[in-house]
Amino acid sequence: MLFLTIFTETMNKDRKILVTGGAGFIGSHTVVSLIESGFTPIIIDDFRNSEKFILDRINQITALHPIAYEFDCADQNKLREVFTEHEIGGIIHFAADKAVGESVKLPLKYYENNIQSLVSLLKIAIEFKVPDFVFSSSCTVYGEPDKVPVDENAPIGFTASPYGYTKQVCERICRDTAYAYSNLKITLLRYFNPIGAHPSGLIGELPLGVPNNLVPFVTQTAAGIRDQLTVFGNDYPTVDGTCVRDYIHVCDLADAHVAALNPSKEEGGVNIFNVGTGLGSSVLEVVRTFEKVNNLSVNHKIGERREGDAAAVFADNSKISSELGWKPKYTLSDALAHAWTWQKQLNEK
Ligand code: WQD
Repeated sequence: MLFLTIFTETMNKDRKILVTGGAGFIGSHTVVSLIESGFTPIIIDDFRNSEKFILDRINQITALHPIAYEFDCADQNKLREVFTEHEIGGIIHFAADKAVGESVKLPLKYYENNIQSLVSLLKIAIEFKVPDFVFSSSCTVYGEPDKVPVDENAPIGFTASPYGYTKQVCERICRDTAYAYSNLKITLLRYFNPIGAHPSGLIGELPLGVPNNLVPFVTQTAAGIRDQLTVFGNDYPTVDGTCVRDYIHVCDLADAHVAALNPSKEEGGVNIFNVGTGLGSSVLEVVRTFEKVNNLSVNHKIGERREGDAAAVFADNSKISSELGWKPKYTLSDALAHAWTWQKQLNEK
């Protein structure tokens, strides 16, 4: 195993990978994973949804302070300067607005930012003959799936939010681009529910304002920042009436991006992979597991359903396992323990 690790790191050494949104939640964990796999990450982030101290934390974890540029990755002139300065061997594109609720209130912000940044980046990738492009997509493109677990052949469904629709539009842009430019390998990673934090507690999720997502709301309630968690409905046709989701540790998700850069993949075309654990957990199971693994209680009540929620969504992850050799390493308990470690150190900041 050690030989394989050394071989892989040697093979990847100095291969520069551009990571847009590299100071964000999934981006920062992916930067750590890239460094640990022998790649050299180059970050572009305009810090609208992230904090600069995360770069120092990446240095604390990896002993490498990543090169970072502060600008909006829709700016083609600035992109061109970076691609002229560095020979970029691959791109991982995270930078996008991602709040489902906000996208309903501000649709044009989402259409402009999420779509324009992708188009700008793809044009530069083609101009500089970059071979690999990994796009941050989401299980939200499936809408409310007809059956679970969801595999990559499931139909693209109706997605109520402009955020979800930008992911569907961006996937189509990637597909058409890969078809027209066969030297550009594009991989779409459809995330299920990213949760947790790096085991060190040095990097993690930084939700802006009141969290929309379950796990940061749970950790903030446990920390006394929120008074009470509302469980959005317990009358769904599931194991305990609450919604079921596929909660994947952010470090496992990060590793999936490194696996997607594997140069042994087929030349050209679009590859699509679900990135989830393959296991469904209900909201109450998440709350109970969080309480058990961290030995505390979370003040919560059952409330009304949240509009747009599907009863159950979890992944069939057999394709990424068989084609990229990726498997999740962490459990739900690990992720909820790491999420709490991160929340506690945030409180001390
Ligand atoms: C999970 C479950 C809620 C908060 C969203 C995006 C998706 C992806 C992941 C980016 C649901 C319940 C939540 C609360 C609750 N993001 N819940 N009380 O909606 O599955 O997916 O995040 O790609 O695109 O849509 O995640 O964490 O918001 O909700 O009961 O205070 O927790 O009803 O059943 P979701 P979530």
